[in-house]
Parts: sequence; structure tokens; C-alpha cells
Amino acid sequence: MEQIETEIARLKQEKNAVLLAHYYVPDEVQACADFVGDSFYLSRVAQQTSAETIVFCGVSFMGESAKILNPSRTVLMPEPAADCPMAHMADITALEALRAEHPDLAVVCYINSTAELKAHCDVCVTSSNALAIVRALPNREILFLPDENLGRYIASLVPEKTFYFQQGFCPVHKRITPAACAEAKAAHPGAPLFLHPECVPEAVALADFAGSTSEIISAAEKSSAPLILIGTDTGVLFELRRRCPDKRFLPVVSDQCCRDMRTVTLPKVLRCLRDGTGEVTLPEELRTGALRPLERMLELGR
Ligand code: 13P
Ligand code: SF4
Repeated sequence: MEQIETEIARLKQEKNAVLLAHYYVPDEVQACADFVGDSFYLSRVAQQTSAETIVFCGVSFMGESAKILNPSRTVLMPEPAADCPMAHMADITALEALRAEHPDLAVVCYINSTAELKAHCDVCVTSSNALAIVRALPNREILFLPDENLGRYIASLVPEKTFYFQQGFCPVHKRITPAACAEAKAAHPGAPLFLHPECVPEAVALADFAGSTSEIISAAEKSSAPLILIGTDTGVLFELRRRCPDKRFLPVVSDQCCRDMRTVTLPKVLRCLRDGTGEVTLPEELRTGALRPLERMLELGR
């Protein structure tokens, strides 16, 4: 183990801290983490951990969700400025106007969202549980936000409900265009395309499998294909190669990379553990408002 990893391991023990990492953070940070996973898995781990401190290697909505779900823990973000642009792409005034016009409306909020937006919604979802949760809701009308692409993908699988959207999107997955997918498939005939549903629907339509980061990794493990085309942030390649050393994985485009996630580095993990920097705090009223839809997600997504 390198010196920095040894020091992180020592500080984790000293401070009774647990390190959570999303699949999009740099490889060496994933390698150092106690738990690596998709957004749903990490939110459950954050809710259930008995460690005094949670170091969340990811973007701000993830650390915020951990604090909302487990307020008695100290939650530290190694890079507090790491943010998800999509989390801010929602219009709360328009949401409330639609709610006033449609009394049966359920407002379904992707976990990639601010705490303020969550507090205005009925239930949160992630890409791995959105389908089951939307189906389980008694409401026939759904406002899905902020991610229009994920929302349209879910809507295509639940035709019996009426969907409304706003215009949020992930800039990273938007770069994985239908043309790039078609080109990659033509260049590698027979190689299946595994894609994240944050991509535009026309790209998802070309995929052999669509799912969250964890679901893509599990599907790749089960697949018999020797080469798989990957349509999500290239951070997943670390876990894919670890679990499937005999398979090859090719990103659809060269810049499938979330810049904010990449700002979470090992020296920053060390600093926040050592100095207690990057602590997530939330006004209690906002925390309890955002807790309700997150808890509903954990109940319905069990
Ligand atoms: P999942 O890991 O839940 O698939 O989320 C993808 C993502 O874009 C996180 O920001
Ligand atoms: Fe947000 Fe996209 Fe980055 Fe995920 S990959 S944190 S959705 S910008």
C-alpha cells in the first residue's frame, strides 16, 4: 500500500469513519473505499452505517442525501464543490403549478437533485429503482424530474400512466449520441451495447441493455460476450475490469467522463479525514422536508 492509502486507513480507524464511493470517482479512490456502488446502494449504506463519520466520495447531492438520511453522523465531502449540474435543472414554480392543476399527480424526483427540490416531491428514485417505484405508485399521473431522458425511458415501460417532464439532462450521458452508438455498433459487429438510461431515448433504443451503473456491471458479468460497448461514465471500467478480467470494454465516445466526479482525489480524501473539512450541513426544516421522499424511496425500493 502507498503511504497515502496507509494514512487514510489509519485515520479511518482512528475517527471511526467509513468511506463510500460512487463508480465515477477516480480508480484509486474506488480502490480505497469500504463501499463502492450506484446511487441507491450508497444511500442505503449511508442510512444504515453505524460509523461516526461518513466520507462521501461523489457529488454534493450524494453527501446531502447521506446527511438527510442519517443526521446523527458527520458527513464529509472530500471535494465540496463537486456538484451535479442536472441536480439544479428543475423549475419548482412550474412543479407546483402543475400540482395545483392535477390533484392526482405524483411528483417523482431523481435522487440527482437538490435538497430543496426533494422537499417539494412525493418520492425519490434512482435509475435502479425508478421503474418499480413508478409502477408501485397508485397515481396515474407522474411528473418526473429533473432528468427528462430517464423519465422518458421509464414512461416507455409504463404506458398506462401519463407522464410530464421538465428539461433536465446529464451533460456526460448527452455526449453518448445515437449516431456514436450506431457507429460503435457498426465498428464492432456482435458486441452488445450496455447503456445508462440518462442517455437520450434514441440512444437507449439502440442498447442491448439499459440500467444503472451497478446493473450494467452485473449484466456484463453475466454476459457471454467477449467485448461489450459501454455507454456510461468510464469510471465504471475500473470495476468492470476487476470483475471481468477476461472481457474487453470499449466506451462509445472518448469523453464519457464526469469532471465533477473526477475532482474527488485521494489527497482530498486524506485532508478531509485528517482536518474534518467539507462537512455537509443542512437546515433542519429542509432536511426533514427532503427526508420524506427519500424514505419513501427506501421503503418502496426494498
Ligand atoms: P447510478 O450509479 O445510480 O446509475 O447513477 C448514475 C449517475 O449519473 C450518478 O450521478
Ligand atoms: Fe451528474 Fe451526469 Fe455527473 Fe452523474 S455523471 S453526477 S448525472 S453530471
